[in-house]
Amino acid sequence: MAQSIFWLLFVSCRINPGYAVASNFLMTGSKDYLTYAKSVQVGTQIGVDECKRQFAWDRWNCPDSATQLKGLKTGETAFVHAISSAGVMYTLTRNCSLGELENCGCDGSKNGKLGRGWLWGGCSANVEFGERISKEYVDAEETGQDSRAAVNLHNNAAGRLAVKDTMTRICRCHGMSESCSVKTCWTQLSDFRAVGNYLRIKYSHAEKLDIDQKRMNAGNSADIQGAIMDALGSIAQSELIYLQDSPDYCRKNASLGAHGTEGRECLLHGRGLTQGERRSCRRLCHECGLRVEEKRTEVMSSCNCKFHWCCKVHCEDCAHVTVKHVCGRKDGGDGKRRDRGPK
Ligand SMILES: *[C@@H]1O[C@H](CO)[C@@H](O)[C@H](O)[C@H]1NC(C)=O
Ligand SMILES: *[C@@H]1O[C@H](CO)[C@@H](O)[C@H](O)[C@H]1NC(C)=O
Repeated sequence: MAQSIFWLLFVSCRINPGYAVASNFLMTGSKDYLTYAKSVQVGTQIGVDECKRQFAWDRWNCPDSATQLKGLKTGETAFVHAISSAGVMYTLTRNCSLGELENCGCDGSKNGKLGRGWLWGGCSANVEFGERISKEYVDAEETGQDSRAAVNLHNNAAGRLAVKDTMTRICRCHGMSESCSVKTCWTQLSDFRAVGNYLRIKYSHAEKLDIDQKRMNAGNSADIQGAIMDALGSIAQSELIYLQDSPDYCRKNASLGAHGTEGRECLLHGRGLTQGERRSCRRLCHECGLRVEEKRTEVMSSCNCKFHWCCKVHCEDCAHVTVKHVCGRKDGGDGKRRDRGPK
């Protein structure tokens, strides 16, 4: 049984930076892992989906598989860790508040206490629970003592903090009609999209961790641990950090998990495009030395349908042309880049 859950997690958490092999927690025979495995799996998926949404029109557009992240220490790795651990915490917290988990319910610890002109009451989101369980699953992967493990753990925690920082307060008035003589309030999770947006901003000014190389090279583990701790000490909990600068992601580089932007779709025009969509052709094609190609595809569908009494419908097959835009090589694909201009 333990084995099958292990594999269930292993195959289902496609992007996971962690929980697949959440070795300690899962393997020590704790019965809790069965209880929460489903929520962890769902939470991972909402993290992946949000990551894909956030980066849909970027050169890096979030991998489908964990193996594509293996070995990477860039800002993108930081985002994946943060959003995944946030997704797991978010789902556990929501499951808990909805009464879907045993031994877990709303956070009523502050109920009856005074806020600023209002009283705590109602069903506050139990983020402490979500945070604790998410930590047990997601952080368990980071067994190393190196800077990469320390950075991953920091980013996991930053993701969980994002869930807390985006919570909102909901209030309800009581008393004579609309007098609001008594107001009770509770906290509630935001839409997960708000967590994604929040972390996307954190990603955009993620910091590179500056570790004292002399101490790292000293070779003794106390020095290494000290250097890592000192470097982390100067970084706020809520900020994302990385160890390695990102490649430009224009070109394919399998060892970096970069697919390159050749063949990627971009949106040339259209109404109601977001800023990211409007810039997609420039960012994915032009700035990568590629051109925008029009791709026409013919799609057959029913048309000119006529109704015959009674009761038949006759249709014709019509061809519709759909136009898409994708990035293609300037020279038509012989593999050489002719653009010599600045990137
Ligand atoms: C937790 O919530 C998710 C999403 O709403 C749901 O799919 C999952 O089944 C829930 N888990 C449990 C244990 O109820
Ligand atoms: C991929 O990136 C690595 C690290 O930057 C570099 O050493 C290697 O040459 C690149 N490979 C290709 C095919 O560009």
